[in-house]
Amino acid sequence: MKFFVDSADIAAIKDLNDLGMVDGVTTNPSLILKSGRDILEVTKEICDIVDGPVSAEVVATEAETMIEEGRKLAKIADNIAVKVPLTWDGLKACKVLSDEGRMVNVTLCFSVNQALLAAKAGATFISPFIGRLDDINIDGMDLIEDIRTVYDNFDFTTQILAASIRTVNHVADSARIGADVITAPPEVIRKLADHPLTDKGLATFLADWEKTGQKIL
Ligand code: E4P
Repeated sequence: MKFFVDSADIAAIKDLNDLGMVDGVTTNPSLILKSGRDILEVTKEICDIVDGPVSAEVVATEAETMIEEGRKLAKIADNIAVKVPLTWDGLKACKVLSDEGRMVNVTLCFSVNQALLAAKAGATFISPFIGRLDDINIDGMDLIEDIRTVYDNFDFTTQILAASIRTVNHVADSARIGADVITAPPEVIRKLADHPLTDKGLATFLADWEKTGQKIL
C-alpha cells in the first residue's frame, strides 16, 4: 500500500520523505490556504521533493475551465495528478485530461456509484473520504470495502486512494481491505509508530542496561 501525505506543509513533507515514507502527496484548496503559499509555487516545491504523484486541485466548476486549469497545473511538473471533484463536469474533465495521458485524481467521492463513474471516466485515483462519512455517522470504511469489491468485479485499474483519514485505525483498516493508497496528515502517519508496549518495553530494557554498567560505544 502506498502512503501519500495529505498536506502542503513543506517541512513536514520533507521530514517524512527523508524517512522513505512518502509515495506521493495530496493537496486541496483548504490545505493551500493553510500553507499561506501560492498554489503554483508551493506545488512546484513539493514536486521537487517527492518523486510520486502530487495532486493539485482545480477550482472551476464547469468542465471547460477545469480542463484549462488542469492543463496549467499539469505544467508544474511531470508528477502532477490533476484533482477534479466528483461532479458531471469533473467527470467530463477527468475523461479529457486522462485521454491526454495525464494522471487524474477524482475527489470528494462518497458512494460506490460515484466511484464507478470515476473509473469509467478513466480516473487514475478515486478519493473516497472516510472521515467525512464518519462525521455524519456513516461508516467510511464500508465505502472503501464496497469500492474494492466493485473495482475487482470488473477489473477496473483506477487506484483506491483512501482519503480524509483521521486515525491510525483508518490506515490499518484501509490496508486490510486492500485500498491501493492512503493519504493522511503528517501527524497521523507519525502516530503509526506509537504503541504503549513499545515505550514500556524500551524503558525496561534501558533500565536493565543501565544496571549492567556496560557501554556499546
Ligand atoms: C484528500 O485528498 C483530501 O485532501 C483530504 O483527505 C480531505 O481530508 P479532510 O476531510 O480531513 O479535510
